[in-house]
Amino acid sequence: MSTLTRVVPAGFDVERIREDFPVLKQSIHGKPLVYLDSAATAQKPNAVIDAIRRFHEVDCANIHRGVHELSQRSTAAYEETRAKAKKFLNARTKNELIFVRGATEGINLVASSWGRGNVKPGDEIVISALEHHSNIVPWQMLCEDKGAKLRVIPMNDRGELLLEEYEKLLGPRTRMVAVTHVSNALGTINPVGRIVEMAHRAGALTLIDGAQAAPHMKIDVQALDADFYTFSGHKVFGPTGIGILYGKTRLLNAMPPYQGGGDMIKTVTFEKTTYADLPYKFEAGTPNIAGGIGLGAALDYVNSIGLDTIAAYEHELLVYGTEALGEIPGLRIVGTAKEKAAVLSFVIDGIHPHDIGTVLDRQGIAVRTGHHCAQPVMDRFRVPATTRASLAFYNTFAEIDALTAGLQKVKEIFS
Ligand code: ALA
Repeated sequence: MSTLTRVVPAGFDVERIREDFPVLKQSIHGKPLVYLDSAATAQKPNAVIDAIRRFHEVDCANIHRGVHELSQRSTAAYEETRAKAKKFLNARTKNELIFVRGATEGINLVASSWGRGNVKPGDEIVISALEHHSNIVPWQMLCEDKGAKLRVIPMNDRGELLLEEYEKLLGPRTRMVAVTHVSNALGTINPVGRIVEMAHRAGALTLIDGAQAAPHMKIDVQALDADFYTFSGHKVFGPTGIGILYGKTRLLNAMPPYQGGGDMIKTVTFEKTTYADLPYKFEAGTPNIAGGIGLGAALDYVNSIGLDTIAAYEHELLVYGTEALGEIPGLRIVGTAKEKAAVLSFVIDGIHPHDIGTVLDRQGIAVRTGHHCAQPVMDRFRVPATTRASLAFYNTFAEIDALTAGLQKVKEIFS
């Protein structure tokens, strides 16, 4: 066992919390599962599993469409999640929260709907060198379509954005600044408040990709003054296929619908369709009702632990893990920002990340290996791929010890 310091916030009982996650109680290849891939998808507590099951067993009906009891119940439960998301992000009204498939769809919705009417040839969209492909490709597609230009905020060798370079990119042609709150590949926490303020001073709008922030820290869209903010349900301990896009009312009202279909209309004739008010204008078709209800249970669960407690505990895990991995000869952590979420991306001299991942898997340890849907980040650090251990509040110091022991084994096998 490591002699490194283990600090646990007062009142935080990880063993009790682990009881809520059935998936964690299994063995993989005869070893206790050590799940270190929460940035890819987080595990689901019983509260979420039960809410989805209850919907299918007891309340299942389509929403916004029926006067019958089941439809009333499922509509109420689904809409309750919108109210919970409003609180979670501190939005002004429920109408500013749009259900989407996940952060990817949230970004595509804005790039497509807002971009259609607001971007002209020669305009500029600013993103950062830290972005996930989902916050690159939709803007590239928009730029190609409109003859606009994509500008990229560079980063330093620690994986921190260079704000003085960002300042130079801003100008009268900048229409949108779209950056991630937390980097999925490196864990860097960006100073998004500053980034938004600087964009606004230049007259640009902002979109923050909160996919990796929402599970780990308190978010206040009013304090940030972000114009758009999006996150995925499955990374915040909810189901896959559901997420939230926040947008300021004034902006959402001025945007055309993203998709056409049922539930997003007021009236339809063959000559002309009028659209529903917010938020339904952006919610065509039967949505992921079970997912929405599950997401509500996930937000309740996270709130019951408290995001400040979660952030404090995960920070201790990160400090411990950084020190522990730092003691392994030949291992280099990629992404050493001062402000970091609990992500440990690393390379080991002479051993391919996929080999590391495979040997770790045989020991029951789940990590992600590859480019993490962030190829430009890998290019910046001149590595084809990394091994990434991404932590959540259900992880333990003992699991980090298991990871370091597993990596010693990797080294024995490949040396
Ligand atoms: N974006 C997810 C990750 O970082 C899938 O693994």
